Amino acid sequence: MRVLSGIQPTGRFHWGNYFGAIRQYIDLQYEAEDAFYFIANLHALTTVRDRDELAGLTMDAALDLLALGLEPDKATLFVQSDVPEVSELCWLLMTGAPLGLLERCHAYKDKKARGISADAGLFAYPVLMAADILAYDSDTIPVGEDQGQHIEVCRDLAASFNHHYGETFVMPKAKIIDTTARVPGIDGEKMSKSYNNILALFEEPKVLRKQIMRIKTDSRPMEDPKEPDDDHLFQLYSLFANDEQREEMAAKYRHGGFGYGEVKKALADLAIDYFDGPRQKRLELEADPERVRKILADGAKRASEKAGEVLRRAQKACGVKI
Ligand code: TYM
Repeated sequence: MRVLSGIQPTGRFHWGNYFGAIRQYIDLQYEAEDAFYFIANLHALTTVRDRDELAGLTMDAALDLLALGLEPDKATLFVQSDVPEVSELCWLLMTGAPLGLLERCHAYKDKKARGISADAGLFAYPVLMAADILAYDSDTIPVGEDQGQHIEVCRDLAASFNHHYGETFVMPKAKIIDTTARVPGIDGEKMSKSYNNILALFEEPKVLRKQIMRIKTDSRPMEDPKEPDDDHLFQLYSLFANDEQREEMAAKYRHGGFGYGEVKKALADLAIDYFDGPRQKRLELEADPERVRKILADGAKRASEKAGEVLRRAQKACGVKI
């Protein structure tokens, strides 16, 4: 298994990023033959247009991933723009990417539907993502549900290139974990930076507790029995609870006669405890930025070697390298 995934440094990482994707990055680094994880700063440029902010968020992303358990001797961690081969590969794929396919992609479609004018970068976003994936011969892409469509586009582009020029790219597959495919935010919608409904991974415990207390709940009376699986607060609790805790809480929901405040308090206790180790580790890493830069530089070198090999294969296949 050759694993690859990317994450945009567009804001602080949140529970959706962790349970939908990052936790799998960490588990898979022990099983995979190769694991490449990168900070997608070129994708982030389509939304973050402040130099210092983007540079700061990129460093924060590296600190977060390392603090959460990414091990540089098991997985290759790098910054997307440090591997220029991918941008070249992106162009090769761009020349065969049907407009209609990209028009159907949700990042662009949603913006257009809201009357926001999109630029070419946002429109071509899935093609760069396809190049990211294909450049490392990766076959397994751990992501949350919202990225499923983009992986399908990548498969379409790879299949059409292979069909036209002969077998060049490995066909990748999304790995989406059912139970955490779509982590809800504090308003019950998908947790997302752009919906302003996130719970951040490295939030101050006191602030986090307050934010959890503000999670929207329905207004049914406390006495009413409730179906736990329909409730986003219960879904959030389930991310942290072990089986026994989860069953116990589900039974309380079905029985009724208790308040949401009780669930929120239990959730805050579990979440604060869960991220305590990474929080300590992050402080240690913050004190040594040189070490982090070295990890990223070593990662970029390894990633570049692999991407260069695949780029040359693709260049030969389509005739731009003679
Ligand atoms: P990004 O930065 O939006 O999100 C990073 C990862 O977090 C997952 N995720 C969620 N999972 C479950 N519930 C949620 N509420 C939630 N919110 C976010 C995302 O599915 C994603 O896996 N285009 C990508 C970055 C990218 C990439 C790639 C990914 C660029 N190139 C190549 C894979 C392979 C993105 O914007 O992710």
